[in-house]
Amino acid sequence: MTRLNSIGLAAALLFAGAAQAATLKVSCSGLGQELALCKSAAEAWAGKTGNQVEVVSTPNDGSERLALYQQVLSAGSDKIDVFQIDVVWPGLLANHLVDLTPYAKGAEKNHFESMIANNTVRGKLVAMPWFTNAGLLFYRKDLLEKHGQKVPVTWDDLTASATRIQAAERQAGNDKMWGYVWQGRAYEGLTCDAFEWVASFGGGSIVDPSGKVTINNPAAVKALQTAAAWVGTISPKAVLNYGEEEARGVFQAGNAVYMRNWPYAWSLGQGADSPVKGKIGVAVLPKGGPDGRHAATLGGELLAVSKYSRNAALAADLVLYMTSAAVQKERALKASYNPTIGALYKDPDIVAANPFMGELYGTFTSAVGRPATVTASRYNQVSNEFWNAAHDVLSGRAKAPDALKRLDTTLNRLGRGGKWE
Ligand code: GLC
Repeated sequence: MTRLNSIGLAAALLFAGAAQAATLKVSCSGLGQELALCKSAAEAWAGKTGNQVEVVSTPNDGSERLALYQQVLSAGSDKIDVFQIDVVWPGLLANHLVDLTPYAKGAEKNHFESMIANNTVRGKLVAMPWFTNAGLLFYRKDLLEKHGQKVPVTWDDLTASATRIQAAERQAGNDKMWGYVWQGRAYEGLTCDAFEWVASFGGGSIVDPSGKVTINNPAAVKALQTAAAWVGTISPKAVLNYGEEEARGVFQAGNAVYMRNWPYAWSLGQGADSPVKGKIGVAVLPKGGPDGRHAATLGGELLAVSKYSRNAALAADLVLYMTSAAVQKERALKASYNPTIGALYKDPDIVAANPFMGELYGTFTSAVGRPATVTASRYNQVSNEFWNAAHDVLSGRAKAPDALKRLDTTLNRLGRGGKWE
């Protein structure tokens, strides 16, 4: 090799090295500890691979996060390489996302099949599962015991038990005590809660898998009426403006007997500085009635690579790392994020740190999915109409039968008689 050639080669190698090291922008939600854990895992990957990461925080409210993503993606912007997306978004965002199949190299087979099916749009694996969610009932073990109450099986049981404990605790001097806190703001979180109420009464899934709108039925009316009766009695009026974090704030301060929330609330509630540490029980959400069922909305988050990324292969590598068993285990131990890899539910460390992951395993595997796949690109409009109808009933602005009748008309128009695509 001549001297000139070897200099040329060295320069080429240097150039290749420089071209490979990149700065990836990762967008994560900031709910609970999500941002901190997203950052630490992304930085660990960067350290291992000699790249850089910038983690961009987004609004806690999923509906606001979606609006932001849609803005960035529809502009074809390369500003964000990796997106944390909600389980209900693959159908909405698929056109902007990279097919991860060639990068996953079979790793997808370790994850829950239902999650992979959910993330596969027109044959493309548009996101890798990161953690799964299911709505849970958190309760104050100490207060139930003190007042001789059992964990409620039906919503009527919950209403009675919450009413009783709230009254007794207030009389004993805690005038801030509430019976039940949940997510009542007009956003995707209310869709999750109201979807659970409706399903628990046997009122279906808003739009059935064939595309038929089913929401206008007596069980759904009953479900919304039941929840509306909580507002101002066992739930503060402010619940109409609560997201996950507002509900957790009240419960974790010791001011609520029951709370509906996602698993992440366990780890924070058990934190060293938490006033309710050691006092929390976790159960399935109540049934609509003796003939109803326990229903938990399936939630969860995924990681996807933008089609407009200039470093798609590297971004996919980051996604595969962040969704790996090792990182999912760390996240389960540190912050009670439910793995999407079935084998991890047999990991003794994970089950010891999060007993509910073992005890309520069936709740996670049988959680009910919102009608995102069937309504595809219209899911957000469907959800928006549903949460607004629910919010109108909860706030007393509309009667449940009227609100659902109107919703039925709107959704049928949106779905053009079952042709959602
Ligand atoms: C959580 C869930 C997500 C759900 C959202 C509603 O982030 O993972 O699926 O849509 O809460 O607020």
